[in-house]
Amino acid sequence: MAKLRVGVLASGGGTNLQSIIDTSKKGEIEAEVVVVISDKKDAFALERAKKSGIKTVFVDPKLYSSRELHENAIVKILEENKVGLVCLAGYMRLLTDHLIGKFENKIINIHPALLPSFPGTHGQADALNYGAKVAGCTVHFVELEMDAGPIIAQAAIPVLEGDTVESLSKRILEQEHKLYPKAIDLFAKGKLKIKGRRVKIND
Ligand code: GRF
Repeated sequence: MAKLRVGVLASGGGTNLQSIIDTSKKGEIEAEVVVVISDKKDAFALERAKKSGIKTVFVDPKLYSSRELHENAIVKILEENKVGLVCLAGYMRLLTDHLIGKFENKIINIHPALLPSFPGTHGQADALNYGAKVAGCTVHFVELEMDAGPIIAQAAIPVLEGDTVESLSKRILEQEHKLYPKAIDLFAKGKLKIKGRRVKIND
C-alpha cells in the first residue's frame, strides 16, 4: 500500500517533525513527510527536513495582505504535493476556514497538555502553576477554535515534586515524540472515525 503523504507545518525547533521523519524512515508508520512548510524563515524544522532530503517551503506571511491569502499559498503547496494529512507541529498560527475547509478532518495537531485543560501557548506552565498532579499531551483534529477539535490520543505523566516548567516540558516532549507518530499511523491506516466529539479507533 502506498504510504500516506504528510505535509508538516512548523514554526520552531521541529523535534516532533524529527520524530515523524525518524519513525517513517524506520518503517514504523505508514506515512512519509513529503513537504515541510514554515512561516518562519529560520525555523530549525526546515533544516531538519532538508537534512532528510524533504522539500521545504518558507511561506512569508509578510508577503500577503491577509491570513486567508497566506493560507491560500500554503494550500496550493499542500495540493501540489498531493498531501493526504496535514500535521501541525509547533505551528504558531491559528488556522482559518481556508485551510481547514480544504483539508476537512485531515489536519491534526499536538498540544503539550491534557485537553480540554490548559489550551493555549503555555500548556505545560499552566498545568504546573495550577497545581495539576498529572500532565501530558494530546493529539487532536483541528477545528477553527484553538486546541478544541476531537481528541485522537493522549499520554499522561505525573507532575513530580520539584518539577520546573523546563523539566516538565522535557518529559511531556518525550511523550509527544511517541504519541504523534502513533496517531499519524492510525490515521494512515484508516483506523480513525470521527463521531461527533469522539474519535473511534478501529484497531
Ligand atoms: C510542542 O510542545 C508541541 O506540543 C507544541 O509546540 C511544541 C513544538 O515543539 N504544539 P517542536 O518544534 O516539535 O520541538
